[in-house]
Amino acid sequence: MIYEIYPRSFADGNGDGTGDLLGVRERLPHLRDLGIDAIWFTPWYVSPLADGGYDVADYRAIDPAFGTLEEAEILIAEARALGIRTIVDVVPNHISDRHAWFQAALAAGPGSAERSRFWFHPGRGPAGDDMPTRWVSNFGGTTWTRTTNADGSPGEWYLHLFAAEQPDLNWDHPDVRREFEDVLAFWFDRGAAGIRIDSAALLIKDPTLPEVPAEPGPGQHPNTDRDEIHDVYRGWRAVADSYDDAKALVGELWIPDLERFARYLRPDELHTAFNFDFLTRPWDGPTLRASIDLTLAAHAPVDAPPTWLLSNHDVTRPVTRYGRDDSSFAFPAKRWNVPTDPALGQRRARAAALLVAALPGSLYIYQGDELGLDEVEDLPRDRIQDPMHFRSGGIDPGRDGCRVPLPWSGERSPFGFSPADAVAEPWLPQPARWAALTAEAQAADPASMLSLYRSALAIRRAEPDFLGGGFAWLDSGPEVLAFRRGDGLVSITNLGQVPVDPPAGGELLLASGGLVDGRLAADASGWWRIANPGGEVR
Ligand code: NOJ
Repeated sequence: MIYEIYPRSFADGNGDGTGDLLGVRERLPHLRDLGIDAIWFTPWYVSPLADGGYDVADYRAIDPAFGTLEEAEILIAEARALGIRTIVDVVPNHISDRHAWFQAALAAGPGSAERSRFWFHPGRGPAGDDMPTRWVSNFGGTTWTRTTNADGSPGEWYLHLFAAEQPDLNWDHPDVRREFEDVLAFWFDRGAAGIRIDSAALLIKDPTLPEVPAEPGPGQHPNTDRDEIHDVYRGWRAVADSYDDAKALVGELWIPDLERFARYLRPDELHTAFNFDFLTRPWDGPTLRASIDLTLAAHAPVDAPPTWLLSNHDVTRPVTRYGRDDSSFAFPAKRWNVPTDPALGQRRARAAALLVAALPGSLYIYQGDELGLDEVEDLPRDRIQDPMHFRSGGIDPGRDGCRVPLPWSGERSPFGFSPADAVAEPWLPQPARWAALTAEAQAADPASMLSLYRSALAIRRAEPDFLGGGFAWLDSGPEVLAFRRGDGLVSITNLGQVPVDPPAGGELLLASGGLVDGRLAADASGWWRIANPGGEVR
């Protein structure tokens, strides 16, 4: 069970309106009580924040807004003392344009050794004013930005698969490979138990820079999921394996082909990777069942644990998404003011939380989902910071709506996010309605989302069948996901409208919603202990 912390928005210890390491240290008891095994911190390094920290200027230093390296080491140790391991985020595809390497490359000019660590290229056409390829940025728009020579004349272009402030590194260069293996060791030596690898499928590019084919075959895309990438991760695995205690490598891989996805999880590569397939699918029985089947089938041959997540710092919050007519998720589809039914979204998000917690493998929870926070969709446009918003020309609201600082206590903003004597407001405004969703308000309410998460994680931890038991579907209608874990546990999620019978003789352990005359209501999940496995669920 891994909990994702987006440090800017988790807790502000020093009162400047931005979350920090002191805030995390003060809130560790919340995480202990939630019952997690590890924290994944999104980037906490020195960064100009052109992309919320995914533009790293120094991989070995903590941004002063968050704290110091010494404090990070203290935090890692304090968490470990509570039984919580730390996973740090490493961003290998690109760095900040403020990073010393890129500044040196700009200064050194065309043809220099400094530029060879990146993808600098002359433009096309006689004046070089046409960019080298028409590739589309993951944030929308183009992937090349033109430089200016020392004499003021237009210069080479450089590649950035994300924002212009995030130049892509050249992974064919030995300096780049050496540097990141060293960064891994730097954090492992400081007590990190794992690395989350950002944009893990993008590192290698076809050096001939062809255009993207209309329908690229396997391994044919010029900048995504190229076969040569596996060599990079074999090197990383060797670094991880050189430690006596276990070190985990977790890939952020958006690869629709699950067979290609599983290649990254071979025994000498990554240990695990985020399963985005499940997260993108709508609240629909057959569709989610298909994703579960595909996921389990893809992981089995490589013997890697599947992962389950409902959201992260890039994705619309589940209570908002699942309340919509179209509850699937896709980045290009994000728009302002898509109607949602909050009560329906809450019910389904509760049911989804139990569903994923019952599946075999590891579970990721994004900060605030345990409070049932909704996506903040009415942020003032002049407060938005996400480059996805700007690069879409404002059509895409961006990802800040799921990054609003957490509500911890009290009746009004900053809801305990910042101390009472804070000198600044939270960096994004918190909605007044979150007064009902503070951790404090929910802790005392057995019907709250927080109580549901705490109970679910406690049961998941205590029941051997959940941790290690096998998985088998039980007979059910298409809108019901009913399965057995081990010999003794049954999980049922009702995505249809008709209440569902519990397993015969089952003892109810936990339900996400009310039972109607003992039957599981629409949009609810339940867990039962059973004496006689098997049987049909109607
Ligand atoms: C994936 C991260 O989760 C996202 O937040 C970031 O913008 C991109 N990678 C680029 O680093």
